[in-house]
Amino acid sequence: MSRLATTLCGVSLRNPLIAAAGTAGYGPELAEVIPGSRFGAITTKSITPESRAGNAPWRVTDLPGGMLNAIGLANLGLERFLGEMLPELKKIDSVMIGSIAGHTIEDYVEVAAAFGDPAAAVLQLVELNISCPNTASGRQFGDDPALLSEVVSASKAALGSKPMLVKLSPGSPDLPELAVAAVRAGADGLTVSNTIPAMSIDPETRRSRIGRASGGLSGPAIHPIAVRILHEVHTRLMDEDCLVPLVGLGGVLSWVDAAEFTLVGATGIGLGTALFIDPRAPRKIERGLDAWVRRQGATGIQDLVGTFEA
Ligand SMILES: Cc1cc2nc3c(=O)[nH]c(=O)nc-3n(C[C@H](O)[C@H](O)[C@H](O)COP(=O)(O)O)c2cc1C
Repeated sequence: MSRLATTLCGVSLRNPLIAAAGTAGYGPELAEVIPGSRFGAITTKSITPESRAGNAPWRVTDLPGGMLNAIGLANLGLERFLGEMLPELKKIDSVMIGSIAGHTIEDYVEVAAAFGDPAAAVLQLVELNISCPNTASGRQFGDDPALLSEVVSASKAALGSKPMLVKLSPGSPDLPELAVAAVRAGADGLTVSNTIPAMSIDPETRRSRIGRASGGLSGPAIHPIAVRILHEVHTRLMDEDCLVPLVGLGGVLSWVDAAEFTLVGATGIGLGTALFIDPRAPRKIERGLDAWVRRQGATGIQDLVGTFEA
């Protein structure tokens, strides 16, 4: 068996590399450029019940340390996703993760129920994107422990036995507390984390470089922050005796970045911005990680998860 083979929430992955939500299209678009077999898993774009056009342009801009985006959950909507995309996902040689989003608890429940249906068996895992504003309160689901618990438990009940990751939203000051709330409400694993709220202004026009005042920062600039957050979440979940598998996500460009996430407790390693920069990144990271595991004298990468010592 490969040194990089791993298990995430009971699902076997050939390696820990996971294409991040929204950076792989629905899955087939990425598989046209990079074979699905390079990834342990591929996450779809976040799906809402209704189709959404998303925000006005510009939605993405390059910055020295990464990318700033304000896509606004543009997607086909649940019905077209199920009818047009699910058959295509079956052709991809990777584990598929369905990403769920919404603006009300009912939205999440509707998509979770459809993803839990036997007709959606190609989605072996799901991920809850909770970085969405709640229509009723205006607050993000991921910023408030009570709202977070409500959306997680309702989604899990609608989904059934399929494993569910909850993708934390890093805007909140006490992420470990939110992590514990998500696990206690039924999350089988956590993805840590989404983009970090940020701004970029063109001094000549005095306007934002994207279509809204602020957006989400991804890429190398956020990697050390994501490592710190993952470490804090892992430590708190251990202290509270409720550790679940974690996916490290944020600014991974090289095997060194991926190894850092492994050491602070990540079973899965997300890749987003890296896929826009270099289609060979997954292969290079896979090779580098494999050599690192061998140099460490470990049988497999799973033996190195969470072995960081301060
Ligand atoms: C263009 C773009 C679109 C994204 N769309 C989604 C999305 O639909 N759902 C989601 O949960 N995250 C979305 N994200 C966030 C990524 O999944 C990931 O959390 C973030 O980019 C940090 O990882 P990275 O630094 O490796 O890119 C998007 C990111 C980018 C850059």
